[in-house]
Amino acid sequence: MFLKWFFRKKDNEKKAGGAPEPDGEDKATNPDDIPLELTHVGPYEIVAPIGRGGMGTVYKAIDRQRDITVAIKVLDRRYDVDKKRRKRDYLGREILIAASLEHENIVRLHNEIVEQEDVNGNIRRCLIMEYIDGHNLMKHIQDRDLTMAQMLDIITRLCRGLDYLHQNKVVHRDIKPHNFLISRDLQKVKIVDFGLSKSDASWRTRRLRETGGTRKYMSPEQLANGSLDARSDIFSFGIVMYELFTGKHPCSATDKNELVRQLRSSSYKFELPSKYNPSITPALDRIILKALRKHPDRRYQSATELLLDLTRLAESRI
Ligand SMILES: Nc1ncnc2c1ncn2[C@@H]1O[C@H](COP(=O)(O)OP(=O)(O)OP(=O)(O)O)[C@@H](O)[C@H]1O
Ligand SMILES: [Mg+2]
Repeated sequence: MFLKWFFRKKDNEKKAGGAPEPDGEDKATNPDDIPLELTHVGPYEIVAPIGRGGMGTVYKAIDRQRDITVAIKVLDRRYDVDKKRRKRDYLGREILIAASLEHENIVRLHNEIVEQEDVNGNIRRCLIMEYIDGHNLMKHIQDRDLTMAQMLDIITRLCRGLDYLHQNKVVHRDIKPHNFLISRDLQKVKIVDFGLSKSDASWRTRRLRETGGTRKYMSPEQLANGSLDARSDIFSFGIVMYELFTGKHPCSATDKNELVRQLRSSSYKFELPSKYNPSITPALDRIILKALRKHPDRRYQSATELLLDLTRLAESRI
């Protein structure tokens, strides 16, 4: 099995080195097509690739002696070789903060970046995380395999995780379905990648360039490259809620420029979610659209407020 991966890696080397396509995360990479770049990281033996994102590749790995399974994000080589960036090491600092956080709705992160030699002899930075055996939320959005009650439960638990992050002064900045992990039995619901954010204004530009990242979940202020706070995450969370409950993104745009215009313009009104899913109650319509107000002052001001409404809704009090 390992040899198969190793030779596929050789075949794919050129392809993998290239920049991801713009908005490439809509096109899921088949884990079988991902080359295996390392055989182990510290005591962990790499067993299989899970997926590829904007910053690197995530692998499932096992410490056989202690029988511990983890997920390891191996950062792309640009995070190892760029001296300027290494000096600033925004990642290292943010990860230390992220690793100090602990909540049942966020993925636990080990508090060191392990440096490990890859199969080509390059030193790679690796982040070790709790492994979630399941899928990210995008799969459930596409498969439409959850009941209303399950969707509401998942959203409420994610909102608890988001509230915890914000209480700890961490703005995620990359809230999207791919960064929400759900275990197969739906018992574990966790936010991931919260330590990879960057607090200066160039974050958005660099992130879009480096990751070919999507604008689909960005708030109007994030798209405008303006200052942003926790309320920006609430807008992005609103898009995820809209997509989960309706199966549809709230913007009708088919190209990037139009998408950005619709997300930013106060004259572009989102349709009521219940138009696309009749099981959505007027109260849930109101909650989703309040999270999606274009001006931050008019949205939920905190995840605590949003959580309160979601909890009331679950208890059918609104
Ligand atoms: N701790 C984890 N346990 C299990 N699967 C994970 C874990 N972390 C990430 N994954 C999965 O690995 C895949 C790649 O994740 P990655 O974060 O690299 O990409 P992404 O979320 O699509 O993009 P981005 O780089 O913008 O976060 C995703 O499918 C994600 O669901
Ligand atoms: Mg991710």
